[in-house]
Amino acid sequence: MKTVFITGTSRGIGKALAQLFLKNDFFVIGTSTKGVADFAHENLIMVQLDQTDSASIERCARSAADLGKKIDILINNAALWIEGDYEKEVDIFILRKTLEANLVGIVDLTERLIPLMNENGHIINVSSRQGSFGYITAMFTTSYSISKAALNMYTRALAYRLADRVTVSAIHPGYVKTDMNEGEGELEPEEAAKDIYELALRDVDTGKFWYKGEVFPW
Ligand SMILES: NC(=O)c1ccc[n+]([C@@H]2O[C@H](COP(=O)([O-])OP(=O)(O)OC[C@H]3O[C@@H](n4cnc5c(N)ncnc54)[C@H](OP(=O)(O)O)[C@@H]3O)[C@@H](O)[C@H]2O)c1
Repeated sequence: MKTVFITGTSRGIGKALAQLFLKNDFFVIGTSTKGVADFAHENLIMVQLDQTDSASIERCARSAADLGKKIDILINNAALWIEGDYEKEVDIFILRKTLEANLVGIVDLTERLIPLMNENGHIINVSSRQGSFGYITAMFTTSYSISKAALNMYTRALAYRLADRVTVSAIHPGYVKTDMNEGEGELEPEEAAKDIYELALRDVDTGKFWYKGEVFPW
C-alpha cells in the first residue's frame, strides 16, 4: 500500500484529496491545525500541524517518522488567505503571517519529510495562478500572491536538487468552491482534487507548474 502525506485535509481541496486517495487504497497521513477531521477511515491518520508554528512542524514531522512508513507522495496543500489582503496596500502583519504559513512552514515541513520519501516519489506544491508573474488581475492579492510566487521558486529549486530521485511539481487547482473563497468558485473541491490526484500519479518532467493537465507559465 502506497503512502501519501497531504496537508490541510480537514476541509476544501485537501479533504477531497484525502478521500480520493483513500478510495484508491492509499494510506493517508493528513493534517489540520487541530489534528482532527470530520471523517475517519482505517487507512487515515490525522496529525496536528500549524505551519506558522515551528514546534508544531517539528512534532508533525516526528509523528510521520514514528509511523515507520516511507512516503510516496507529499502534497503541500494547506495554506491560508487572510481577509484584507488586497492589491491596494501591503499590510505587513498579513504579509508576515501569510509567508510563515504559505512558504516558510511548507519549506520547513518539506525539508524534514524529504528523508522519509521513497525513491521516485512525487512532491506537489499546491500553488495558485496568483503566484504567476503573468497573472496580475483586478483580484490580485499581494501577500498571498507573493507567497505563491515564492512557493513556485521553491518548487524549481527543489526539483533541481532532487532531480535524480523525486519529482517536484507545482499546480494551480483552479477557482474552487471552498472556505478560502467563501464558497465561490468554478469547480467543486472533488474536481480540483481529481486533477491533483492525476498529476500525482503521472510520470511528468520535474520542476513544472501545472493547470488542468497542461504546463502553466511561471
Ligand atoms: N480555492 C481556490 O480557488 C484555490 C485557488 C488557487 C489555489 N488554492 C490553493 O489550494 C490549497 C487548498 O485551498 P482550499 O481552497 O481548499 O482552502 P481551505 O478550504 O481554506 O482549507 C485550508 C486548509 O489548510 C489548513 N490550514 C490553514 N491554515 C493553516 C496553517 N497555518 N497551518 C496548517 N494548516 C493550515 C486548514 O486547516 P484547518 O481546518 O485546521 O484550519 C484547511 O485544512 C491552498 O494551497 C490554496 O492556496 C485554492
